[in-house]
Amino acid sequence: MSAKKAGFHCSDCGHFAPRWMGRCAGCGQWNTYVEEIINTGPDKLRFGGAGERPVPVTEVSATEEERRSTGMPELDRVLGGGLVPGSLVLLGGDPGIGKSTLLLQVAGAVSAAGQRVLYVSGEESTRQIRMRAERLGALNPELYLYAETDLDVVKEQVGKVSPELMVTDSIQTMYGPDLSSSPGSVSQVRECTARLMRLAKECSISVFVVGHVTKEGMIAGPRVMEHMVDVVLYFEGERHQSFRILRGVKNRYGSTNEIGIFEMSGAGLREVPNPSSFFLMDYAVRDAAGSAVVPTMEGTRPLLVEVQALVSPTSLGVPRRMTTGVDHNRVALIMAVLEKRLGLMLGNCDAYVNVVGGVRIDEPAVDLGIAMALASSFRERVIDGQTVVVGELGLTGEIRPVAAVEKRLHEAARLGFRRCVIPGRKDRPVDDGLTAGLTIMEASTLAEAFDLIFS
Ligand SMILES: Nc1ncnc2c1ncn2[C@@H]1O[C@H](COP(=O)(O)OP(=O)(O)OP(=O)(O)O)[C@@H](O)[C@H]1O
Ligand SMILES: [Mg+2]
Repeated sequence: MSAKKAGFHCSDCGHFAPRWMGRCAGCGQWNTYVEEIINTGPDKLRFGGAGERPVPVTEVSATEEERRSTGMPELDRVLGGGLVPGSLVLLGGDPGIGKSTLLLQVAGAVSAAGQRVLYVSGEESTRQIRMRAERLGALNPELYLYAETDLDVVKEQVGKVSPELMVTDSIQTMYGPDLSSSPGSVSQVRECTARLMRLAKECSISVFVVGHVTKEGMIAGPRVMEHMVDVVLYFEGERHQSFRILRGVKNRYGSTNEIGIFEMSGAGLREVPNPSSFFLMDYAVRDAAGSAVVPTMEGTRPLLVEVQALVSPTSLGVPRRMTTGVDHNRVALIMAVLEKRLGLMLGNCDAYVNVVGGVRIDEPAVDLGIAMALASSFRERVIDGQTVVVGELGLTGEIRPVAAVEKRLHEAARLGFRRCVIPGRKDRPVDDGLTAGLTIMEASTLAEAFDLIFS
């Protein structure tokens, strides 16, 4: 490390200022600047040797990055097909959601496959981790545990142990002894991430880093950390429910659309290979108004989810509108369309919309499902349990086409649904037998869909 320069960083957004200021010029928060020492100088990240020079793109060797399985297909899927050697993966998530559990399980599976793994923890003692490893069935001689927070010492040990996979739990506890700020501070987190990145690239080992999440749900420390690493994953889930969703936020080696679904149990995280039936577990027995099943797409995978709505006359001046799992404004829009195009007087009703199981749906294909669940609750008419609906809603009440209709239909048929309402299509694909037993009904307007479902 060479020259050092003192400065101030916003602890919220990481904005740099040469002098202390009361209000952050980056995010506008008050009193967030903390003094930091930052390093400047020639200590830069290098991917190749010192004699590397620019080369024409055609002369770069074109071998596809080899990928190693993590032993958990759901995680491999989110990573884009496995771990790339030399990659740095950041795993963020709320406290207690299961980050250490997931990574210890991966460490167990990878070491069981004969590859050496170094699990560095700055949060727990090796005894604590061993106890967890016993519970998860991850006791393998190739899995090395190391309780240390000094990154220089860790680097030394990496040289001795020469692992193929390294887990660092967590970045907020690690520190570089040559930096004067305390562990977890902006400059420490950024510098430690850069050093781990360098270590990963130089030694060609895959590194998992755990990152804590702030109250706002962002990975603590500056945003810049997310820019530095190769892959950013978020582990999420409801505290009181057992399933967990692993979501890719950034991936230099694959798509970020994929999610992995896990269930937390005493023996660790179990993969959920068939999530649709998992989320609809007790659906068949339900026979109440206000519920609709929607085939959504999570990445390349169809997922059937249940949307519930409750509409009741308000007792307050301003009706309440609450949503979980879908966008609040989207629901307001759908309610306005229902009111205008179907004449449902929802204006003085409270409305609650919930996606069962804590899944979050962003795609507009769920619109028709929300609309039908609201209409069902308002009219007290049950949507029969064999029907699924999908479609995007326009402001004029038209139903717009959605992507990947075939995949959605296949999934609905596979799970035994009998009827599916979809947007009108121009060309019908040849029957491939995968939707056998499913009656496909097309609707181009909200009114048509309403008639099809409730007649
Ligand atoms: N003996 C046990 N049996 C079943 N589940 C357990 C057991 N011990 C812990 N768990 C589950 O594991 C979760 C904690 O997992 P873990 O320590 O991996 O979380 P974490 O995300 O690493 O948390 P932190 O942010 O505090 O490090 C608990 O919330 C609980 O659900
Ligand atoms: Mg932990």
